Amino acid sequence: MCGIIGYVGKDNAKDIIISGLHALEYRGYDSSGIAYNAQNKIKIVKMEGKVSNLENKLKDINDLPHTAIGHTRWATHGKPNEVNAHPHKVGNTTLVHNGIIENYLSIKNKLNNIYNFQSETDTEVACALIDYYVKKEKNKLKALKLVQKDIIGSYAFAIIFDDEPENIYIMRKDSPLIVAEKDNNYYVASDIAAILSYTNKYYLLDQLDIAKISDKIYFFDSELNPITKKINEYSGTINDVMKNGFDHFMLKEIHDEVNVYKNIISNYVPNLSIHDLKKNFGNFSKYKKITIVGCGSAYHTGLAAKYLFENFANIETNVEMASEYRYKKIFPKRNELVILISQSGETADTLEAARLAKANKIDTLGIINVLSSSIARESDRVIYCLAGCEIAVATTKAYLAQLLILSLIAILMGYERKLITRNEANNYLLDLTKLQKDTKEIINNKDYYKEIAKDFYKDREMFFIGRNIDFALCMESSLKMKEISYIHSEAYAAGELKHGTISLIEENMVVFGIVTNPSIAPKTISNLKETKARGSKMILVTTKEIANNYKDDKSYKFVITVNNLCPFFQSLTIITTMQLISYYVALLKGENIDQPRNLAKSVTVE
Ligand code: AGP
Repeated sequence: MCGIIGYVGKDNAKDIIISGLHALEYRGYDSSGIAYNAQNKIKIVKMEGKVSNLENKLKDINDLPHTAIGHTRWATHGKPNEVNAHPHKVGNTTLVHNGIIENYLSIKNKLNNIYNFQSETDTEVACALIDYYVKKEKNKLKALKLVQKDIIGSYAFAIIFDDEPENIYIMRKDSPLIVAEKDNNYYVASDIAAILSYTNKYYLLDQLDIAKISDKIYFFDSELNPITKKINEYSGTINDVMKNGFDHFMLKEIHDEVNVYKNIISNYVPNLSIHDLKKNFGNFSKYKKITIVGCGSAYHTGLAAKYLFENFANIETNVEMASEYRYKKIFPKRNELVILISQSGETADTLEAARLAKANKIDTLGIINVLSSSIARESDRVIYCLAGCEIAVATTKAYLAQLLILSLIAILMGYERKLITRNEANNYLLDLTKLQKDTKEIINNKDYYKEIAKDFYKDREMFFIGRNIDFALCMESSLKMKEISYIHSEAYAAGELKHGTISLIEENMVVFGIVTNPSIAPKTISNLKETKARGSKMILVTTKEIANNYKDDKSYKFVITVNNLCPFFQSLTIITTMQLISYYVALLKGENIDQPRNLAKSVTVE
């Protein structure tokens, strides 16, 4: 899941590539590079590490190219170093690539006697294959078509050939790629963030499409028939990809959560009425089984939704990790719905899960953030979660937007199945106003969470325990803590701890107990106490109502409370507090919060 960018035009391509790579850096930051036309010769400059390293190196080079391609890398094949960095040049072909060539070793074996490979990458092999076919076919489009036949895997390529240094060729399969034109300047990018400062209008390349960018954009389908493309328009602005005075995108995006709720309410429930949901979400009454599929935090929204769907709509709900779902035995049911959750809409495993569900003739619904992304286009129906651009690798506002959409679907399904009356449904929906107010209050009170974080930010491990939907919230809270602070935290079903894992509890180890359901609160509280007996530092995360029941118990290091909300929305404010705590722990540790090590925002490889 790298970021690629390209430019053909009259401006200084170096500057456009560098600012584009900065905007794409959340897709991978192991190394970066540029290739450009320097007086009809292809010049390549690449550096290990952040884009700023490349930018510094380019400062000493005075070339003013008008054609260039660039890349920021998330290493899949070969260490993050300069040799493995993109662009790669083999023969007369230079390219950048996002994706994975699964059969690169067999292709490499075939070409080993023709080309001398420098790097450990699959990409260099693809570059050699293109060069080989171009020499053989003496026709670049035909050559690219043959390459499509040979390659197994995912790719978005931007290619410059020695004999056409002013032009760029592009093609894609599975990995995202857009192209845009503004005032005879042509831009290629992995996503809109890289070109928003020039235009918000773009073309989407479909599977196996090829395009040549020279005096204009020439589109071809996989049969090399010339095709035209419809223009898409991104509704946001460049501000979406700027920090706007915040220290980190993560904090900016947490602050944006109230606006996200406003977007969702004004678009899907403007009158806070169940009839709005019927109108905007359609009908779910025919479904007898729901399977929710996603990865990471997206999977965690499914875990939480399961409890709402089963308890309030009485519908059998399974939650699957997409990477497991795509290789496991599927038991398709009549009247089954597969719900695919994804912020980026490009996560490879979730995309394949969508295709698998369709191949098994199961209805698919995508709950997606990025407009017209691959999973959105692959799903039968889409409900966009309207969170706007999310740049920080650790998802915050998009996770909550997905969970809110799922909670609204739970209310709708409960109503459709006559388990929730119209009045009850509308009463629940009234709480959406309180949700915004409570979230604003938590965010305005963020220094309180910084004070709490000061107590344990130096710790090396911690636990999050909870039962039922709270266990799902623990999964997300623990992931947030892990991915930005590198503290080894584990989420555990509270009742499971004593069956082994409690052996890990040591003196002063932090154990968060998340408790939102009054009926099982005493159970989780006793599990928390079992860890206290082994010396843990208990932090209770709960509602004001439940906290009041335990106000005389002074044994907690901290009691973090949120205002009471209906069970459909209670999880959301709990998670905002946990996001802030993770943020401040990472901040106090001085970690790179927006670009945690080894991670990338959109996982477009298996
Ligand atoms: C979450 O903070 C992580 N960035 C990661 O777990 C993410 O949720 C996962 O990769 C799924 O991404 P998606 O929602 O774009 O499909």
